[in-house]
Amino acid sequence: MNNKKIIVAIDGFSSSGKSTMARELAKRVGYVYVDSGAMYRAVTLYALRHGMVNADHAVNRKELVAALPSIHVSFQPAGADGVQHTLLNGEDVEKGIRDMQVSALVSPVAEIPEVRERLVDLQKKFGEHKGIVMDGRDIGTTVFPNAELKIFVCASPEERARRRLKEMQEKGENVSYDEVYNNVVERDRIDTTREVSPLRKAADAIELDNGDMTREQQMDRLLSHFDEALKKNCP
Ligand code: DC
Repeated sequence: MNNKKIIVAIDGFSSSGKSTMARELAKRVGYVYVDSGAMYRAVTLYALRHGMVNADHAVNRKELVAALPSIHVSFQPAGADGVQHTLLNGEDVEKGIRDMQVSALVSPVAEIPEVRERLVDLQKKFGEHKGIVMDGRDIGTTVFPNAELKIFVCASPEERARRRLKEMQEKGENVSYDEVYNNVVERDRIDTTREVSPLRKAADAIELDNGDMTREQQMDRLLSHFDEALKKNCP
């Protein structure tokens, strides 16, 4: 039995299905799963709740940066529902961070260098003992540039909007395809063009286009990359 552990970094565009893949992989191999996007979403929810977003939907950067020391994001391990819950200053905000209001504001919040610095530090700490699967935008490039396995997930914006719409409708949210599609495209634009840690594929990442793949096919592929990386790095 091989007890050595590796770090798995899964990056990709919004709604590419990377969180589902990362969560499932972590469960199968007994690793900790961290959804780094949830951390940016929790900070965004804090800004919304504390009046740091004006009528034009602009975030007051100065106020948010000043408040950072009082924003604590953590995770509660998966319970009976099998879902890991995000905590904001100890409060379970898993549902609130997924709504459209937060989705529309999270990319501008994630552009703020001080926000990134604070969350990246925390993400690095989560990986100190390896045995972790983390998904996000800059995990293979900035958070864990030495991760033993890096995956870059992609699918067309139309396919991703369809998936996100289905997910939101299942949760009872009343949104249209156009709203979701526009949000996906706008987030892609901001995520890929921001100055600090823009979304891009790390040179040593394996590209996985899951547009035409079932969940089982994606998992098979991911598990075989995982086994290979484990053999190579922990012989
Ligand atoms: O994966 P997600 O859609 O929940 O991420 C929400 C936002 O957070 C996304 O628009 C970009 C940002 N993000 C980021 O900038 N860096 C990460 N590592 C994860 C997410």
